[in-house]
Amino acid sequence: MKKRTFPLEKVYGLIEPGPVVLLSTSRNGRPNVMPMSWHMMMEFEPPLIGCIVSNRNYSFDSLKSSGQCVINIPTIDIADKVVGCGNTSGATVDKFEKFALTCQPATQVDAPLIDECYANLECRVVDTKMLAKYCMFVVEVVQAWIDPRVKKPQTIHHLGYGKFMIAGETVKLKSKMR
Ligand SMILES: Cc1cc2nc3c(=O)[nH]c(=O)nc-3n(C[C@H](O)[C@H](O)[C@H](O)COP(=O)(O)O)c2cc1C
Repeated sequence: MKKRTFPLEKVYGLIEPGPVVLLSTSRNGRPNVMPMSWHMMMEFEPPLIGCIVSNRNYSFDSLKSSGQCVINIPTIDIADKVVGCGNTSGATVDKFEKFALTCQPATQVDAPLIDECYANLECRVVDTKMLAKYCMFVVEVVQAWIDPRVKKPQTIHHLGYGKFMIAGETVKLKSKMR
């Protein structure tokens, strides 16, 4: 076995969960958006998602004060915009204007759907017990939207340091997991 040690700070890139998503929020009527890859499913129904949002980000205060957000799922065609949103802060930049992203009104929450994303999940914060220690919000998806024309969404998955994996082939196996 010729394995080498792997730096602990890069481990997350091996275990990285699902797609990079765009978390949109609204504060005083002004929308903002940030990419987020540190998230995890916690329950099937109602769907619960754990989201780590650093308290250094402008989005943290928006999500904490409003208790509402939309998790938008982008694909490779807007990857440059996604990264651009991660290199700027809503504290100083109107990212919707700068990156030409289109806001659409949500039905259940006060945060915008991003039209360019193939799926949008309207969410409400339901648990902040882990907020002080881990900046973790548990959100419940209260309404979900999907573009039926997108059959094989090429979602993007963060490997760290500017590298991304694009979702590709799927296989069907006899798994008991639903
Ligand atoms: C691919 C990618 C994934 C990211 N994942 C997270 C994350 O899970 N949690 C987080 O707090 N910041 C994450 N960031 C960093 C924020 O998106 C970044 O700090 C952003 O500028 C915050 O914007 P805001 O200040 O407008 O909230 C990520 C950035 C990129 C590019």
